[in-house]
Amino acid sequence: MTLYSIFLVYYFMIVIKSSSNKVINPHNYNFTLNPTNTICSNDDSSVFLLIGVNTRPENFAQRQLIRETWTKRSIFVQVRVIFLLGLTPNKKIQNRLLLESNTYKDLVQENYMDTYRNLTLKGVMSLKWIIKYCSNIKYYLKCDDDIVINTFKVLQFLKQVKLKPKTIACNLLYDSGVIRDVSSKWYLSVEEYAPDKFMDYCSGAAYIITSDVLEEMYNKSHYVHFVWIDDFYMTGLLGHVTRSNFYDLFDRFELTISTLGYTRLGFAMKFSSSNKSSDEAPIESFYMTVRVSGRAKCFEIDWATSPPNSLPNSEPYSEPIKDPI
Ligand SMILES: *[C@@H]1O[C@H](CO)[C@@H](O)[C@H](O)[C@H]1NC(C)=O
Ligand SMILES: *[C@@H]1O[C@H](CO)[C@@H](O)[C@H](O)[C@H]1NC(C)=O
Ligand SMILES: *[C@@H]1O[C@H](CO)[C@@H](O)[C@H](O)[C@H]1NC(C)=O
Ligand SMILES: *[C@@H]1O[C@H](CO)[C@@H](O)[C@H](O)[C@H]1NC(C)=O
Repeated sequence: MTLYSIFLVYYFMIVIKSSSNKVINPHNYNFTLNPTNTICSNDDSSVFLLIGVNTRPENFAQRQLIRETWTKRSIFVQVRVIFLLGLTPNKKIQNRLLLESNTYKDLVQENYMDTYRNLTLKGVMSLKWIIKYCSNIKYYLKCDDDIVINTFKVLQFLKQVKLKPKTIACNLLYDSGVIRDVSSKWYLSVEEYAPDKFMDYCSGAAYIITSDVLEEMYNKSHYVHFVWIDDFYMTGLLGHVTRSNFYDLFDRFELTISTLGYTRLGFAMKFSSSNKSSDEAPIESFYMTVRVSGRAKCFEIDWATSPPNSLPNSEPYSEPIKDPI
């Protein structure tokens, strides 16, 4: 069999599975932190873009930076942010999450352990939450908490390009091989996923989904076998089973500092990378600049010519990032 026919057979299997009535992947977790309708509501059509940030319980500072910069409500009135969490065994951290949740009302947490191999649960949780409490949005953007989104550019893009219904826009990964090396972080056994190639899917660092397909994705997730690689599950498996369109954003998402200087259309960049010392400093200064000035202007830099460490108005900012609580 050719790879393509193997893919077709597998694809068919998922489609058949998803059209049968047998739930093979229930999502029976319950919310332990839930802002319910304080973020938006199902009859509120003023939210254009909802951003869901995958974050770990202990990452208080990252969440605070995100609140104060590229999702800041006073700058981006049509944008809302939620932070997606699982449980931590650390009682102290969980208590602080409770405080944080009372203060900002933007934490969504269910009762599964917040671990790397439970990220697919987090993805399904986000769909469930949106359908229940915030279904009247136009677009959903998922990203990690070590990503900086150029919100201005993303809004501009979404308003200009007008994605087709049922579309996932992202940095598309084509034809990637499944890793069978047991020592790898991304090892997948044949039992977990049989084909040797992944169908096309999105890099999970950041992707955008048109809201019209979110409920179908959630419903179908109950009939699609659990695979822990969350970006593949959410955009690859659920994307294909809902027959979604893919819109390739090429290198506009998930840029590293080294490519930042040369890319005109950058939507996002990664905060952390293998070389933290060289990457984090400019991002910190970018965050700081936005925090200090609080003005939209700072975002409208052309990343092609102005890497964040040479922003205009980038006065030194001596106050350390405060822990909110
Ligand atoms: C969620 O709540 C339901 C209803 O109370 C309960 O049956 C179920 O076991 C709970 N699930 C988990 C994972 O706690
Ligand atoms: C995922 O969460 C469940 C529920 O809390 C837990 O039992 C399980 O060990 C977690 N799985 C992994 C791989 O961490
Ligand atoms: C999803 O499932 C719910 C509950 O069964 C149903 O009411 C709804 O119509 C379904 N939506 C889609 C888009 O499949
Ligand atoms: C990481 O970045 C620092 C600062 O730019 C540089 O001095 C160092 O050589 C880099 N390390 C690696 C392993 O690339």
